[in-house]
Parts: sequence; structure tokens; C-alpha cells
Amino acid sequence: MVGSVINVDIMFKTIAGLEAKKQLELIGEDPDVMIGVVGGGSNWGGVFFPFIGEELRSGKVRRRYIAVGAIEVPKVTKGVYRYDDPDTGRVLPQLKMFTIGADFVPPPIYAGGLRYHAVAPTLSYLMSKGYVEGRDYDQETVFRMAQVFAQVEGYVPAPETAHVLPVIKEIAEEARRTGERRVILISFSGHGLLDLGNYADVLGFEKHKAFMRLALIKICGQGLHQHPPYLSILLLLSSLTS
Ligand SMILES: Cc1ncc(COP(=O)(O)O)c(C=O)c1O
Repeated sequence: MVGSVINVDIMFKTIAGLEAKKQLELIGEDPDVMIGVVGGGSNWGGVFFPFIGEELRSGKVRRRYIAVGAIEVPKVTKGVYRYDDPDTGRVLPQLKMFTIGADFVPPPIYAGGLRYHAVAPTLSYLMSKGYVEGRDYDQETVFRMAQVFAQVEGYVPAPETAHVLPVIKEIAEEARRTGERRVILISFSGHGLLDLGNYADVLGFEKHKAFMRLALIKICGQGLHQHPPYLSILLLLSSLTS
């Protein structure tokens, strides 16, 4: 995980943000809000640094940038901006970042990628200057929203990725209230096909768990892209039991 907090890792992932910028230009959209989850900070920085970098160079940041973490590991909202060890072994040089302490022992949440204790120095710096808002959400809320997202959009987000969903809901509801159009860009950091059993655990689909695992093995064995109908079956089952 230490890899994802250091500049070099984030730098090469900015190819995703540069690509997103070009794609948005092609479809003529300009997002108002950018939302991504933070384990160490690499998917967030990779997608959004090209956008915020351009705004900073122009002298004005007009968009809302939101970094989301897990409430069980609240570095984004309760971290302190200070020098800390990036690794629990305390071997590497210290970095200045929002941290809840290298000795923090995270609870065993399923969004394992969000259990890191600190935020990348580059993203931390932007947070310290007030350019990026922080949010944390709990596993139960996030998993329930992931279920709705899967039913509506047709694919399952990773538990980490699903942490963006409560913010999207909040912004969408606000837009509906005010009648203003909002374009949101999210960093979809990963799919949740390997997490179906975990979703079953938390959402209480115990009786379907074995089937979900079996179907998953079948999907993986035969190539994900060839068998979207399996997903529909899984999602339908999920909805029937809710
Ligand atoms: C699916 C997924 N999303 C997000 C993350 C968070 O990592 P990062 O903040 O470095 O992008 C991880 C980390 O393992 C992950 O697996």
C-alpha cells in the first residue's frame, strides 16, 4: 500500500485522468464535482490531478473535489496533518500527510484497500489548502448503496469504490431540490465481482451465498465479458431478498 501514497505511483496513474479529460472533451461534458475514494491516494490523484492541476495553474479552482474514506479508518476526516511513518515497520522516511497514526489497527472491514492509515502527501497538501473536501462512510450504508447501484447500473462496484455512492446520492438529491444540473465524475477504482460473498455477508443474503460463489467461479472460469447474464441473475437474487 505504501506504493500508492508516493508521487511516482500517482504520477504514472495520471494517464487515467488525462484520458478522462480527452473523453470528456469528446462528449462535450465538463464535470462540476469530482469524487474518488482514498486508500493511499493513487486512484484519486491519478484521475483528478490533471483536472485540479489545470485549475490551479489557471489561478482559480471552481469545481468541487471530494475525497472519501471509510468511517472505520477515518484519516480523511479525522487525520492530523503532520509527519508520520508511511509504513508500520517504521523503516521508510517520514512523510507529511493526514494521518491517524502508523500504529492505528484498522478493524476488519471488507474495503481492505481503504484500511491504510494516511493520505498521500500530494493529496494531503491539497486537502490542507482547502481544495479537497473529505467524507467518511460506514460499511453498512455503503454496501446497501452498492446494491442499489448494481441494480440500476448493471455492475457491481468494489467495496472500496462503493464509498463514493453516498456522496453522489447527496449531490443528486441537492440537484433535484434546486433544479440545477450537476455533472459528477467519479473514479471507479475497481469492480466487486470477487467481493460478492462479502456483499452477501453484510447484506444478509446468507442463503444465496454458496450460489453466488459458485456463479462467480463460473464467470471467472469462462471470461467475465462473455457472461453478463450471470451478473443479472445474481443482482436479481439480491434484490429479491432485500
Ligand atoms: C478497488 C480499490 N479501490 C481503491 C483502493 C484504494 O487505493 P488507492 O487510494 O491507492 O487508489 C484500493 C486499494 O487496494 C482498491 O483495491
